[in-house]
Amino acid sequence: MGPFDGQKEKMPLVHALTEQAGRVSFHMPGHRQGRFQFPLHKLSAFDVTELDGTGDLAEPSGHVLAAYRQAAEFFGAGETWFITAGTTASIFIMMATALQEGDRVILPRAVHLAAVHAAGILGLAPVFVKPEEGQIFPDGQPSASDFLRTMEENPRARAVFVTSPDYFGRTLDLEPIARMARELGMLLLVDEAHGAHFVAAPGQLPPTALFQGADLVCQSAHKTLPALTPASFLHLSRGALEEKRLDSGRAARFVKVFQTSSPSFLIAASMDAARARAQAHGEAAIGRLIFKNQELSRRLPPSFRRLLPAGADASRLVLDFSGLGRDRLYFLEMLDRAGIDPEMADLSRAVFIPGFDQPDGDYDRLLEALLTMEPVQNETERQAHLDRVNLLSREQDRLLSRPAAFSVSVRRGMFGPAGKTVPAALAPYPPGMPLVWPGEKADEETLAFLKQLREAGITVRGSL
Ligand SMILES: Cc1ncc(COP(=O)(O)O)c(C=O)c1O
Repeated sequence: MGPFDGQKEKMPLVHALTEQAGRVSFHMPGHRQGRFQFPLHKLSAFDVTELDGTGDLAEPSGHVLAAYRQAAEFFGAGETWFITAGTTASIFIMMATALQEGDRVILPRAVHLAAVHAAGILGLAPVFVKPEEGQIFPDGQPSASDFLRTMEENPRARAVFVTSPDYFGRTLDLEPIARMARELGMLLLVDEAHGAHFVAAPGQLPPTALFQGADLVCQSAHKTLPALTPASFLHLSRGALEEKRLDSGRAARFVKVFQTSSPSFLIAASMDAARARAQAHGEAAIGRLIFKNQELSRRLPPSFRRLLPAGADASRLVLDFSGLGRDRLYFLEMLDRAGIDPEMADLSRAVFIPGFDQPDGDYDRLLEALLTMEPVQNETERQAHLDRVNLLSREQDRLLSRPAAFSVSVRRGMFGPAGKTVPAALAPYPPGMPLVWPGEKADEETLAFLKQLREAGITVRGSL
């Protein structure tokens, strides 16, 4: 008997966690169920709070400051904070640091929900990136030139908020955006949640947002580095601090507003260790992952296609499985039978996030599982499935690219009396991008589309 056997009722959460043992994880967090770094059973020994010997994460000095400085040096930042409440909290801090109540911020409709909530809490005025006539953003993600055009048309905006890389590892060329932001007196904020590892392997991975001139950047350390969940680096750029475009004291103030007063040293220490590990071994580890991904891609059965557009993160594995002619539930069920957890699967694509030390055997098991999946034999049926998936994906892209249609402000939509607008963003999950923001109405076509998604096994976050 293990120590937690028979504890399902008494400790359902502990039981659920222990049930994960032995599964193949291509899922966040990057420490691969404790195989790297802290052995889980020893974790509680490190769960301390602010002590004389440890310092204060919100008032950095001593050990804390030393760790922050090493991280800032490694990531190329002027200042780095360890946020132990995830990039969700970092996004709040980042936006509160850069923007004041009522400020305009340029961003696409399709951002992480934290940015929507920050806009509501801070009383911001979002300006959605506008597609050109007849254009649709793939997955709601505008190109750099779409951002530039919108910035030119809205020179009074105070900041521009970009997500790069996105969930699928695709990146944007941030340099021209940073240049124009500086010219127009805007701040460039980058949600680099999925790119904390980029700095470790220059030349093999896309350049970091800080390197390209971003002013404020946040990265989830647990997504692609071997840190505990939810660990987030918040960086203030050297240039913005030196040129006084950013106020370090304002950032420090908002760390205390949006971070718990009991931040986790366990998580913070794991960030310190993850940074050190990335610094010492990241380049080799990432090189190996890129190689393993290529190797697996070469052996993929014909129903699968690896998606790796130019400029995307090659250490991430994104597979299009629509060639099977089967839905995501079949794909997920087959992986589950093989004991494999992908990071996510939408209607046609699966994202796998391998950790630094992902064992070779995990790749073998993944390939084996893919080989066991049987494509639909009837070509008409297979084609009908493809047509349906393409139609739904295109419709989703279209809805994610729509211009803003606010009846009331995001803040009023979220916090005001119930009315005709939605009180919470409506976001199909995965990947969790909002089709409708608080303050907008959910029209008939959106509701009909969401119904179709639900039928396809996609849940929809947000309530009506
Ligand atoms: C693009 C993006 N930004 C922000 C976040 C929030 O990060 P965290 O889970 O660290 O709070 C996520 C989480 O999935 C994300 O995908």
